[in-house]
Amino acid sequence: MNKGIAFTIGTLSLAALLLQASPALSQSISPSPTFYHDVQPILEKHCQNCHRPGEMAFPLITYNQAAPRARVIAESAVSKKMPPWLADPNYGRFANDPSLTMDEIKLLSTWAKSGAHAGNPRDMKPAPHMTNGWNISAPDDVIEMPKAITLARKGDIDYTYEIVPTHFREDRWVQMAELRPTSRDHVHHGVVYIRPPDSKWLRKAPVGVPFTEDTLTDEQGRREAQWTDSDILLVYAPGSSPVILNSGMAKLIPAGSDLVIQMHYMAMGDAASDRPAIGLVFAKQQPKQRVLTLQLTNDHFVIPPHADDYRVEARGSLPNDATLLGFFPHMHWRGKKFEYNIIHPDGRIEPLLKVRWDFEWQLTYQLTEPRPLKAGTVLQAVAWYDNSSGNPHNPDPNQEVRWGDQTYDEMMVGFFDVAVSADVDKWKYFMRGGNVPVH
Ligand code: HEC
Repeated sequence: MNKGIAFTIGTLSLAALLLQASPALSQSISPSPTFYHDVQPILEKHCQNCHRPGEMAFPLITYNQAAPRARVIAESAVSKKMPPWLADPNYGRFANDPSLTMDEIKLLSTWAKSGAHAGNPRDMKPAPHMTNGWNISAPDDVIEMPKAITLARKGDIDYTYEIVPTHFREDRWVQMAELRPTSRDHVHHGVVYIRPPDSKWLRKAPVGVPFTEDTLTDEQGRREAQWTDSDILLVYAPGSSPVILNSGMAKLIPAGSDLVIQMHYMAMGDAASDRPAIGLVFAKQQPKQRVLTLQLTNDHFVIPPHADDYRVEARGSLPNDATLLGFFPHMHWRGKKFEYNIIHPDGRIEPLLKVRWDFEWQLTYQLTEPRPLKAGTVLQAVAWYDNSSGNPHNPDPNQEVRWGDQTYDEMMVGFFDVAVSADVDKWKYFMRGGNVPVH
């Protein structure tokens, strides 16, 4: 993750907010549900994007795959371990929330308890079309990293970059985008930046081959590797969703752009290499709005040893009007909670999203109803860290922890997507009142 364009940082104490959970409605459930009639549609809707061949988890497509696991399926549903979703249901509604309803959970557990019957295969509804190898529709273009990245067996692996020319002769509006690593287990995260032809970022770096900051020969290149105002095409992390934008909205890859792929890997003891591909689905029509990925970042924190609830915040005011579309929080092993708020002029804090942090599941949260915001709206991101021995992921509670690339360092990045007018780029967006860039 790069620091990118950060907003200004301040401090503020958060008032406690209490909301009641809404009681779930329950309908009657058949005493002996069957796989084909009842269970299969649930798996299809909530589970198979991950539980199918070629994806991150064992397949749960057929009766023979699901039935032997009926009990763990029920347990994972009841405990809400599956499908993974970390947002507090009291705040915000999210279009990509995969959570099961109370009735669906009850159905899965009744199915397991009543003997995991198959039922009649004729009850099965035709499966929705899934594109093999992708979670977006069949890509119009697939951009492959020209050269695979060889991964060290052990130790820290520095951020590895590869610059990939798109060779686009005209501007391309991207409706959907997905990054597919070939060694998914080794990927900590990846960010794909769009470098337009007039950008000076990493201009002296080699093209089409992997490199790290340390291998750059020019001092300036090394300094600026982690700083860019380039727009982000996508962010990839365990469990994250691909970019799928509503019609009328798209991300722009200007003609002649390069993609700068920044990958962060974890050594896993084996000799591996990775060669990600990026699938793109282009907008069928000229979109009305352009989607930009912005971020609230604080890189000045020092988390004291043993602190179990250390708070870090970042905030900033929007330089221009924008429609808020969704969020992607990012922290490392000591992350505990993350939230996004609007701070209203009267001081009222309106929570937009609150998540419990789980490093294994770095999810995107797409608002069901995009939220138009006026220029000057103050957005706040707040992160909490657990640097105590009570955090099972904590590699060393005796350390003072600061911003850094490796997972034993920390990060505080609140990415968020906004839609702006199609003719506004990131640079223009950050001009307050039409003239002064603020970064
Ligand atoms: C975002 C991706 C994702 C979704 C959606 C998802 N799973 Fe999983 N699930 C995983 C991964 C990854 C694992 C770990 C797989 C492994 O260890 O091989 C897992 C593990 C499991 C396990 C094993 C749990 C254990 O305790 O060992 C069960 C059972 C399971 N999932 C059921 C489901 C069901 C049922 C759904 C839908 C209601 C679902 N999953 C949705 C990714 C997902």
